[in-house]
Amino acid sequence: SHPLRIAIAGLGTVGAGIVRMMATHGTTMAMRAGRPLEITAVSARSRGKDRGVDLSAFAWEDDPVALARRDDVDLVIEVMGGEDGPAKALTEAALAAGKHVVTANKAMLAHHGQALATLAEKNDAMLRYEAAVAGGIPVMKALTEGLAANGITRVMGVLNGTCNYILTQMEEHGYDYESVLSAAQEKGYAEADPSFDVGGIDAAHKLALLAATAFGTRVDFDGVQTEGIEQISLADILMARDLGYRIKLLGVAQMTSEGLEQRMQPCLVPAQSALGGLQSVTNMVVIEGDFVGQTVFQGPGAGEGPTASAILGDVIDIARGLRVPAFGIPADRLTAPNRSADGAAAAY
Ligand code: NAP
Ligand code: HSE
Repeated sequence: SHPLRIAIAGLGTVGAGIVRMMATHGTTMAMRAGRPLEITAVSARSRGKDRGVDLSAFAWEDDPVALARRDDVDLVIEVMGGEDGPAKALTEAALAAGKHVVTANKAMLAHHGQALATLAEKNDAMLRYEAAVAGGIPVMKALTEGLAANGITRVMGVLNGTCNYILTQMEEHGYDYESVLSAAQEKGYAEADPSFDVGGIDAAHKLALLAATAFGTRVDFDGVQTEGIEQISLADILMARDLGYRIKLLGVAQMTSEGLEQRMQPCLVPAQSALGGLQSVTNMVVIEGDFVGQTVFQGPGAGEGPTASAILGDVIDIARGLRVPAFGIPADRLTAPNRSADGAAAAY
């Protein structure tokens, strides 16, 4: 059967990981997809850069948006990042041309998700973003597919790998904040602007996407009450430990009688609890449904391998012909949420 022809925009941590994973598992992936998967074209800022992967078989575009105009591209993987700029221009151009888009870009989706989903639906294209939320954990699929029959009552969890890495490394080794943040950057966990991680903004992007999908509401990033971990000192972490607690950057989204409540803030959790035991770059997402009860998903929340895994899972779904709206229901059915700030303390 005919191949699914793929373009990749962005060849950094995630983009290079995708090339590597396809080189390793291309044959198995094609079998699972029911058709060959073929990278035809790529783009990044610097053409000459050594990325540790062989790009010689792929066409190169200096302008990422040109990928959307190529006749030999059916699906674009957007892993450049950035809320606006070329990432958004490329995503819009690809969807408008009826080409599918798979992206890891939660910043773009938290701000423009509904408009992009509408554009995708209008042009019979798929917009998928499993990698944007909780790294390698297939939590968007859980919400839009496995748990789709439930009324979702609450979604919460640890959604930023960099912050969890920083908090756990500081406690374990007594390292100072700056050196642990540098290590997270070297490992490819952090955002291009790491203040998005430590400021809680990245996790708030993800919570807003989870909440929209869980409750069928418009993405309301501005409605997330957000506090990061910049003010947490080693002394705070050690004092919490002495009392039997750990500090986690925890997000909660729930529908209350007042409306949608979304909070992202550092919390004390018992060291012996499942949340308290989360090490390194691990994320956890708890989804509560009225019929299923509480479900818990845990796994690596950032890094090359987990993110490539989530991206290529979406690609296989699209190759199989799966059709699921970006937020689980048609974008024009998403309703405006009332905002609520009450009841958060009880949620923890
Ligand atoms: P990265 O290592 O900084 O890579 C970004 C890539 O995009 C680079 O190859 C860069 O080109 C290219 N690029 C950036 N701006 C460009 C522009 N204006 N025009 C053309 N190319 C441009 O970032 P990353 O860690 O792979 O993350 C990529 C995306 O995935 C982001 O949206 C991020 O939030 C998301 N994400 C990352 C992770 C993770 O663990 N890293 C996990 C989940 C989601 P050059 O290499 O030539 O500079
Ligand atoms: N910077 C993000 C994190 C990448 O550390 O969780 C994964 O979304």
